[in-house]
Amino acid sequence: MPRILSKRVMVIGVVAATFTPLTPEGEINLSVIGPYIDYLIEKQNVKSIFVNGTTGESVSLSLAERKALAEDWCHKAKGKMDQVIVHVGCMCLRDSQELACHAAQIGADGIAVISPSFFKPSTAAFLREVASAAPTLPFYYYHLPAMTGVNVPVRDVLNDIEELVPSFRGIKFSGCDLMDFGQCVSKSRPHWAVVYGVDEQLLAGLAMGANGAVGSTYNYVGSYMNKLMTAFENGDQLQARAIQFKLQELLSFAMKNRFDVGVNKQLMSDVSGLSLGPPRLPLVQCPQDYAKSIFQKYNSLFQDSR
Ligand SMILES: *[C@@H]1O[C@H](CO)[C@@H](O)[C@H](O)[C@H]1NC(C)=O
Ligand SMILES: *[C@@H]1O[C@H](CO)[C@@H](O)[C@H](O)[C@H]1NC(C)=O
Repeated sequence: MPRILSKRVMVIGVVAATFTPLTPEGEINLSVIGPYIDYLIEKQNVKSIFVNGTTGESVSLSLAERKALAEDWCHKAKGKMDQVIVHVGCMCLRDSQELACHAAQIGADGIAVISPSFFKPSTAAFLREVASAAPTLPFYYYHLPAMTGVNVPVRDVLNDIEELVPSFRGIKFSGCDLMDFGQCVSKSRPHWAVVYGVDEQLLAGLAMGANGAVGSTYNYVGSYMNKLMTAFENGDQLQARAIQFKLQELLSFAMKNRFDVGVNKQLMSDVSGLSLGPPRLPLVQCPQDYAKSIFQKYNSLFQDSR
């Protein structure tokens, strides 16, 4: 059935960037996904997910694994969640197109693409070619300069973007440059989602005009960050800051040691009780002592959040 590409803003609110559940042997464990979705909805009040991005270790997965994962997330989230955005970015255009096409077939609500990070000359042309493989799906550009090394200002990528990519519907902006983010908001069209992706400074992103938040920590502090967004909307800056500062305290504790997807995934397993397993190489598992201390820190800050 042909889909009609909507012109309303699709992504609003708190979106969790999901981890990829693995068995202790390193195989994908799809049976965790159903309980994972229920956990996000019931315990974190999070109703949208961003599948297979950085947090999902997508760059470490094979194409077949990515398809199986995306399919399972879409299938199990249907009727329960508001939005499932599947990240389909790859270094290889053909692979990205194949995944975009697949995302449309499995009923994803949107696709996102990170800029290629090995050869870097033309992000916009690459986005156009991937989007054209799934022209009925809302398309989001995923900006993560700390990982990709692609520091082209997003405000420049947005010039004439809708002529290039008619399905363009917004940005997942995971950079710290708030001037660039502000310019993206300022240039955005009413039907775009301009979503901020640096969890520890979401409040600054909201002040700049973000209409949503996507991040890995929302897996386990989603209920809190929902409250932060509500406090911000109600003009309660003290409450919004108090919540933001707690998350900053947790992350500054973690960053003193190491805070990568391996550590993050372990913390989510400990908080949620889901068996997400180890990360896949080149990421390595979080040492037990460290896992324990960060979980304790989490509990001391957020004990009433579960
Ligand atoms: C996969 O996840 C399920 C649900 O958490 C768990 O019961 C099962 O033991 C896991 N499988 C493996 C091989 O770890
Ligand atoms: C997930 O993202 C990676 C790149 O980061 C991509 O190679 C992979 O194909 C994506 N998987 C799906 C199902 O979109």
